[in-house]
Amino acid sequence: MSPTAATSLPASRVPDPREAPALRWGVVGTGWIAERFVAALQRLTVQEVVAVGSRSEASAREFAGRFGLTHAHGSYESLVADPDVDVVYVATPHNRHRPHALLALEAGKHVLVEKPIALNAAEAREIADAAAARGLFCAEALWSLFTPKFDVVRQVLDSGLLGDISSVVADNGEWFAPDHRIQRHDLAGGPLLDLGTYPLALTHWVLGSSTDVLARGTDAPSGVNGQVGALLGFEGGARAVVHTSILANTPVALTIAGSEGSLEVPGVFYRPGPFSVVLTDGTRLDYDETAIAYDALAHQAAEVARRVLAGDTETPVRPLADSIATMALIDAVRAQIGQVWDEER
Ligand SMILES: NC(=O)c1ccc[n+]([C@@H]2O[C@H](COP(=O)([O-])OP(=O)(O)OC[C@H]3O[C@@H](n4cnc5c(N)ncnc54)[C@H](OP(=O)(O)O)[C@@H]3O)[C@@H](O)[C@H]2O)c1
Repeated sequence: MSPTAATSLPASRVPDPREAPALRWGVVGTGWIAERFVAALQRLTVQEVVAVGSRSEASAREFAGRFGLTHAHGSYESLVADPDVDVVYVATPHNRHRPHALLALEAGKHVLVEKPIALNAAEAREIADAAAARGLFCAEALWSLFTPKFDVVRQVLDSGLLGDISSVVADNGEWFAPDHRIQRHDLAGGPLLDLGTYPLALTHWVLGSSTDVLARGTDAPSGVNGQVGALLGFEGGARAVVHTSILANTPVALTIAGSEGSLEVPGVFYRPGPFSVVLTDGTRLDYDETAIAYDALAHQAAEVARRVLAGDTETPVRPLADSIATMALIDAVRAQIGQVWDEER
């Protein structure tokens, strides 16, 4: 697509999630995202969620009852050993992703791990190595990249329509109550691993690995990091400005700007919704879709099913190398603000 020829945006190449063949899923954890993931699969796919595992028997039974799941396990060990489960979805707090992903892989299950894939790049590599050693599928559930909207963004970027990309500006700030897990240092709280994963992963997705990182942070009253601003540099002179916060609601917008035009995704940029491309000659191209929010979690599950049944161990939508690179970028930001997790001490 050349700038002069552009009259519309490309169509999404993402298949209807209902067309993906069914896998039998087991869910680790019964929290906020686990609920939305199971609801999305049941509404928009033919995937079979057959089992849930919880630290508590009662929680597992309640969750299984609510969603009509066949098996309720009172431990994660029991869930991963379930012979009726093909693939495990890890939906526990960040600092439990590594142990729970390894638990599933060691039990011979394919695994989809919530974002961020781990606490740091070393842990992410350990998970990737464990999956490779066993020939099992593994991916990070960075759900946005699996959606039709981001497939269209990818095509716009690959087409060169925006010219030479010189800057990415991405923000993700959301106020959280003092009792939310994000306020707890022992659960690797603060915005970076949670909300910050989106703008930082997107920056890498657009510009590749940064060559220098300057970051500054402010603590939240709870004692965890409350917000971070980062200025990233890239080979050739491109820059990214990233901000993430749990202290306040911010626009949650994304701009990718180049010599021929800019792509602007209004908030909440990482969920389904509109975006526009405005070229330097004044041409405006709009993308729109129903903002189905968390039902779009169905797309990542459908991609996992397609890949597993094709015998693949990764997805090109979110290769493990990209997950590791995002963690390395977060490590570099953390080094600048002096943030160390308990597990790293
Ligand atoms: N894709 C997205 O849009 C999205 C949105 C929100 C969160 N997430 C990611 O999903 C993960 C979970 O977030 P969430 O908001 O769902 O958290 P949550 O509501 O607190 O649920 C986490 C679940 O993990 C289990 N768990 C295991 N060890 C735990 C511990 N030490 N403390 C607390 N819970 C523990 C619990 O289930 P049991 O009690 O049943 O064992 C709990 O219900 C995070 O890594 C987050 O980044 C992704």
